[in-house]
Amino acid sequence: MASLSFSSISRCLPQSTVTVSDKSSPRKDIVCSLAKGNFSRKRDARDLTVTNVASPQMPVIIPLPEKENFPRERNHVAWTSVRQERWEGELVVQGQIPLWLSGTYLRNGPGLWHIGDYNFRHLFDGYATLVKLNFENGRLIAGHRQIESEAYKAAKKNKKLCYREFSEVPKPDNFLSYIGDLANLFSGASLTDNANTGVIKLGDGRVVCLTETQKGSIIIDPNTLDTIGKFEYSDTLGGLIHSAHPIVTDSEFLTLLPDLVNPGYLVVRMEQGTNERKVIGRVSCRGGPAPGWVHSFPVTEHYVVVPEMSLRYCAQNLLRAEPTPLYKFEWHPDSKAFVHVMCKASGKLVASVEVPLYVTFHFINAYEEKDEDGRVTAIIADCCEHNADTTILDKLRLKNLRSFNGEDVLPDARVGRFRIPFDGSPYGKLEAALDPDEHGRGMDMCSINPTYLGKKYRYAYACGAQRPCNFPNTLTKVDLVEKKAKNWYEEGAVPSEPFFVARPGATEEDDGVVISMISQRNGDGYALLLDGSTFEEIARAKFPYGLPYGLHGCWVPNK
Ligand SMILES: [Fe+2]
Repeated sequence: MASLSFSSISRCLPQSTVTVSDKSSPRKDIVCSLAKGNFSRKRDARDLTVTNVASPQMPVIIPLPEKENFPRERNHVAWTSVRQERWEGELVVQGQIPLWLSGTYLRNGPGLWHIGDYNFRHLFDGYATLVKLNFENGRLIAGHRQIESEAYKAAKKNKKLCYREFSEVPKPDNFLSYIGDLANLFSGASLTDNANTGVIKLGDGRVVCLTETQKGSIIIDPNTLDTIGKFEYSDTLGGLIHSAHPIVTDSEFLTLLPDLVNPGYLVVRMEQGTNERKVIGRVSCRGGPAPGWVHSFPVTEHYVVVPEMSLRYCAQNLLRAEPTPLYKFEWHPDSKAFVHVMCKASGKLVASVEVPLYVTFHFINAYEEKDEDGRVTAIIADCCEHNADTTILDKLRLKNLRSFNGEDVLPDARVGRFRIPFDGSPYGKLEAALDPDEHGRGMDMCSINPTYLGKKYRYAYACGAQRPCNFPNTLTKVDLVEKKAKNWYEEGAVPSEPFFVARPGATEEDDGVVISMISQRNGDGYALLLDGSTFEEIARAKFPYGLPYGLHGCWVPNK
């Protein structure tokens, strides 16, 4: 049985029954037990039963931890390290999972925020925990597993931080190792490969976990959650970082490579089935000492939209041993803010406009506005916009997330809608697409019906807010035509990104389901399914123990 050096799985003292498989003897089931009351306050016998997936390929499953033997956590489970490296089992479903829903929802995110007694500081520092929900014939098999990045394996082996995470930096043993670390930083060797941000399915079927560093591109098996190995880019484009959110379709993968030396961005494409990125074009920055942070970007049918935020990368902050208020970034309002538009086919810049200052991590979608003759007159690009306020980054420090005392401290956010004209005007607009009070002035972690990627669309799904709160705590469906939102809320819940899966054959944009994973204040957690149209709950399935908050997901249909 696998061991876990970071948490107290060895203290598992089983009591009630669960069935797990043994890798060394796939057909032989091992009876292990669980703590009573781990699953439900009602302690329904049915709720206490968790069974394994009857698959001969299934790896050894670690038994569930004994809840009573865990230290009493005062923190919300959303901000508490995952209890063990891996688990897999069938969940009892309350409600009904649509029979058409056949596939695996994968969600990636930072789920382990400590090494031994050393606690990380920022949400984004955590080692990647991949969670899966496999839906088939109305049943739900769930599981989670740590991604075996070099950073994670080295931390486990050496019992200390060995790579530079988002805000954490390894402590040099002496001056010589400090010099060595600086050299490694310039070469990228000391940057993390902790792929804790997103997960994508390439057109050729490979599933890759990603983060901001290029080396943190890791191929995983969507069924077993095994780490298969590093995704090696075969080109010579170089660079250390990229957008954490490439645009992925069945035919291509588009991303941005920021150029920190000569401020700008390479817009690149990788065709499905290859590992080679090819340059579509380059955008030079118009302001500031460095490119703006490009965590994500949108596309339309014919154009790539390249944002240039005043929140810019900062090479000096990358070198610092201690985190600065904006971590690896700096806020340069004097450098202004811009949006550039590049033709996908020619690589030519067709618009580059100054826009009001903005702060966004996640673009929702973009599309082309056309006149009656079908000519493109402007690009509309929507994002989760934080009112040009960078304080959200610091609100995501674990200390702040864990110290909610009822005060309303979540900074306001909105659906920011850019209009980038094609008439040569030097300025673009940025306005709220709907009244932010519709979604509690919280807005982040968005998804849309992927059929509408780059096209005129009506609905977005995201996390909103019911105040007071210190973190987005609702799921919201935004209607961009009616300018209304429907909100799902449960006291104490921290929901992760609502992910839309369309019903096969659907003709309506919102015909499908929305999947989210909920971490509850009482330590529980469950998978939640909402109807994409009514936005009402259709099913939930409780995990054996609450999982930490996670970031982004993808859908892998069953074959
Ligand atoms: Fe993200």
